[in-house]
Amino acid sequence: MKTLTSRLLMTLGSVVLLSGPVLAAPPSDWSGVPTKTVKLFYPGQSSYQWLRSSEHKRADKKTKKGDSCVSCHEGEEVEIGNKIVSGERLEPHPIKDKPGVIDLAVQMAHDTDNLYMRYQWKTKNPFPGSAHPHWQFDGKDWKQIGWPQLDKKVWGEGQPAIYEDRLSLMVDNGSVPMFAEQGCWLTCHDDMRDMPNVAQAKDVKAHALLGKVLKKKDVRKYLPGSRTDEAVTWTKTKSADEIATVKAAGGFVDLMQWRGHRSNPVGMTDDGYVLEYRLFDAGKKMFSKNWDKTAKQPKYMFDAKKVGFKSRTMDQIRDTSKPSSLIAEDNVVAFDPKAGWKKGDMIPEYYLTRAVKGSAGDNQDANGTWKDGVWTVVWTRKLDTGHPQDDKIMKTGGVYTVGFAVHDDNITTRGHHVSWPMTVGIGAKADIKAVTLK
Ligand code: HEC
Repeated sequence: MKTLTSRLLMTLGSVVLLSGPVLAAPPSDWSGVPTKTVKLFYPGQSSYQWLRSSEHKRADKKTKKGDSCVSCHEGEEVEIGNKIVSGERLEPHPIKDKPGVIDLAVQMAHDTDNLYMRYQWKTKNPFPGSAHPHWQFDGKDWKQIGWPQLDKKVWGEGQPAIYEDRLSLMVDNGSVPMFAEQGCWLTCHDDMRDMPNVAQAKDVKAHALLGKVLKKKDVRKYLPGSRTDEAVTWTKTKSADEIATVKAAGGFVDLMQWRGHRSNPVGMTDDGYVLEYRLFDAGKKMFSKNWDKTAKQPKYMFDAKKVGFKSRTMDQIRDTSKPSSLIAEDNVVAFDPKAGWKKGDMIPEYYLTRAVKGSAGDNQDANGTWKDGVWTVVWTRKLDTGHPQDDKIMKTGGVYTVGFAVHDDNITTRGHHVSWPMTVGIGAKADIKAVTLK
């Protein structure tokens, strides 16, 4: 005869069986999930404006009209990437030995709650890009050290190139005009950082919206839907009210970035969007500037009791057997100006926290490991994040347009490798089909 407890257990057991797997987690074995190899290529300064100029021979009018890039360029990634990276076109500062193309292996799967992604790519360097600019003690003051390779400090003055590796994902659900056809190129403009007509800091600071409201000093990605003129000039912003209306109608693209220094050590990616600027979602993201403006010194240093050192030196920052990021909950203490600092001591310019909040903290399961020259990033993103105001909500059966980018070898801004716009289907037919997990 069965006891009440065992009956209850049996009942509970069948409930669990009926409702399927309880824990939503990425597949433990990805070998059954198809891999799509996406050719990412070096785009140089091929901006929205360049594509619509007579320099883009015989293609400017069709691009204006909204024809897709691949309608003319399908399969040309290697050719275009190699041409631009060499400096032959659209690249005023070619970087020695940079490849024109990076192969990004993409696998996707989904269940009722999540999209699971796995990305793999080879790094150029025999080490992962988990270091980022630091503060360095010069015997008197703490000064920034380390810049991305396109910075004049690196190519012009021989300063060290230090910058984190990144994997970026843009997503749209059809509400941004032309995104399906022209993807990331809608967000890239001549007046942005490292572009040919870069806006001056004093002009940006004086601008009614970018300077006075958003408190920016430079111009970053923006969409044509946020501007009033045909040339999509950075200064010609719509009013804040008009932009809010565009945003509420979904006229932004979702942009999430996995970062080798500023998100991976806490197992996350950031979460942002592009409309009038490249902005972070509402809430609190995982990284902040490690700088006390009043005292002109770092806020935190490593906790020597926990990690064995309070700071690093230039020849130690690539030592991946030790932590390279400051993490508030794990390994930091308040900066001590009297800790016996020596010339050359270095402390990271940013610190991380796991205490993220709101939409900015949506991606809390993204883990990258680097082995034998290859990054493998496994990333879980909720189909419905619950934050439609700054995320693209996905549904089973839905098809979305995405753009991928990798920043490799100490670089930022245009120095990435990018994809044409592609489609991702959540259990639906597309360029990349996220397979349905049973
Ligand atoms: C109507 C066809 C057409 C469309 C649409 C088109 N292009 Fe082009 N594109 C061309 C042609 C033709 C050239 C080469 C012009 C030349 O030889 O100077 C070119 C050149 C380029 C180049 C310079 C590299 C090179 O090989 O000279 C880039 C980068 C580029 N296109 C990107 C794009 C992007 C991005 C889009 C979509 C936003 C796009 N193109 C849409 C036809 C097109």
